[in-house]
Amino acid sequence: MRPTQAAFPATRFRRARQSASIRALTRENTLSVGDLIWPVFVRSGDGIIEPIPSMPGVFRRSVDKIAEAAREAADLGIPAICIFPYTGPEERTADCAGAWDPDNHANRAIRAIKKAAPELAIMTDVALDTYNINGHDGFVENGEIVNDKTVQALVKMAMAQAEAGADIIGPSDMMDGRIGAIRSALEGGGHQNVMILSYAAKYASGFYGPFRDAVGASGALTGDKKTYQMDPANTNEALRLIERDLREGADMVMVKPGMPYLDICTRVKDRFGAPTFAYQVSGEYAMIRAAADHGWIDGDTVMLESLMAFKRAGCDGVLSYFAPQAARLLNQR
Ligand code: PBG
Repeated sequence: MRPTQAAFPATRFRRARQSASIRALTRENTLSVGDLIWPVFVRSGDGIIEPIPSMPGVFRRSVDKIAEAAREAADLGIPAICIFPYTGPEERTADCAGAWDPDNHANRAIRAIKKAAPELAIMTDVALDTYNINGHDGFVENGEIVNDKTVQALVKMAMAQAEAGADIIGPSDMMDGRIGAIRSALEGGGHQNVMILSYAAKYASGFYGPFRDAVGASGALTGDKKTYQMDPANTNEALRLIERDLREGADMVMVKPGMPYLDICTRVKDRFGAPTFAYQVSGEYAMIRAAADHGWIDGDTVMLESLMAFKRAGCDGVLSYFAPQAARLLNQR
């Protein structure tokens, strides 16, 4: 329903923009610290904070340092953290057994964060790429990324994360049937309160480049992910995937990447009304950071504007590497 609008000069839109107070009163959307999920990279070792060249300002941290960072995030009011493991070539195998090892460094990080910041919700990544010798999210057999066998492994991986204390399981693999399989394993295994945030509409995107450096998958990856991640040209398929995952028991859904896919975010939220998240991925972060570091844009302004765009598009929240920086700015206001 549109309000009736008088003609100029009875209506002057600039009246509503004349001062900070009036703008605050008429603002349609708000970005708050409570909207943020902070993705972090964890690696083996002790006392390590290591820069990632293609993501300036983002680091790989050993478990002890992740726990410290998590404490700082919780103190900033950030509600959730999402853990991604970095693995060296020696930690990757064809059977991907590291993925469901209860003591892999991602699972150790979950336990350490629960101790350091018990109020922080912990999200995980479910996919085999960081443990796979060839960098793919599923098992590769005769050149094919096999679906059903991968789903069984993903269930084991998700269960190990739930046992370690994860609050939100994040399947990012794009195999068919994994949400239902993980949901029923969680129910059967006494983890009925563990949530699933499905990477339901995940596109085969060039924007993941810096992430693959961050987790050590760039060198390992053979070929591309187009047989399981979505074609960037498709919209209807995204809506069908979201509907499928909600029916299989996803509590929340994600669109990924973020900014180039805001139209998908809006349509997903309008159609299903489920808790909807966008992932402002590594390439989006790198572009904004690089331009800001060159002095070509104002980094803080563009960062907050980019995050607000997700709220305007209908998202309930956003995964962003900018989370701590954004939280600091939002807390100062
Ligand atoms: C892997 C995974 C990827 C990202 C999150 N989980 C990369 C990929 O699919 O190759 C990308 C995140 C980012 O770019 O920030 N399952």
